[in-house]
Amino acid sequence: MERRKLLGLITAGAASFGGLLAVNAQNSSASDSLEIPVNRSSRPIKRGNKTLVVYYSKTGRNYPDLELTVGNTARIAHFIHARVGGDVFEIVPKRPYPVDYDQTVDQAQREESQNVYPAIKEMVPDTDPYSTIFLGHPVWWGEQPMVVQTFMRDRDLNYGTIIPFVTHEGSGFGNSLDVLDQYYPEARVLDGFSARGTDVYDNPGAARRDVNAWLEGLGF
Ligand SMILES: Cc1cc2nc3c(=O)[nH]c(=O)nc-3n(C[C@H](O)[C@H](O)[C@H](O)COP(=O)(O)O)c2cc1C
Repeated sequence: MERRKLLGLITAGAASFGGLLAVNAQNSSASDSLEIPVNRSSRPIKRGNKTLVVYYSKTGRNYPDLELTVGNTARIAHFIHARVGGDVFEIVPKRPYPVDYDQTVDQAQREESQNVYPAIKEMVPDTDPYSTIFLGHPVWWGEQPMVVQTFMRDRDLNYGTIIPFVTHEGSGFGNSLDVLDQYYPEARVLDGFSARGTDVYDNPGAARRDVNAWLEGLGF
């Protein structure tokens, strides 16, 4: 994808978030509620104290014209896991995103604007045993890819500590922290980590050092 198109996309990312809320409002039967449909169980939850690193990352064709055998966010996820331990769950869409980058960009925009929640391939783990969840994803159109939002919709993480991490190409977290708050208003959200995907690709050693310094700052 040419840089001009990506920049347009990054700016549009913010606008699309407003669009998402509007769509939610439109689809909602509860008059003008803006609430995202999240599964909130009413049963008492017995939480364990385990740590889970959960992430989505797109391997294959990526920006700018790279063929990634390990996605940018996946690299960060592995660095985190190497330091903090615990379990790892990779969110894999049941229907893979197109190999073609531009087609993925178009599909992602459609999913966001139409509020589509793509199915996840593997059974999502029960998150009750985990009190600390690192949640990672590339920033797509200024927020979490919708397949990540499928996970967020289906798992109530309100009672845990969530630590977001993202890779992007200029927008930083974009609106993703607001989206996180929409799904989990009662969670304890710690300072997250963000890096440009191309920086992670060009210099994974530096990215790893940055991740370790960030984790150390959080007390891990
Ligand atoms: C569908 C799509 C939408 C994207 N939207 C944004 C965006 O809004 N802001 C941004 O900075 N980067 C955007 N990017 C760039 C990715 O966030 C970046 O390349 C990221 O490092 C990819 O991570 P991954 O290898 O883990 O999938 C987008 C990429 C794709 C494929």
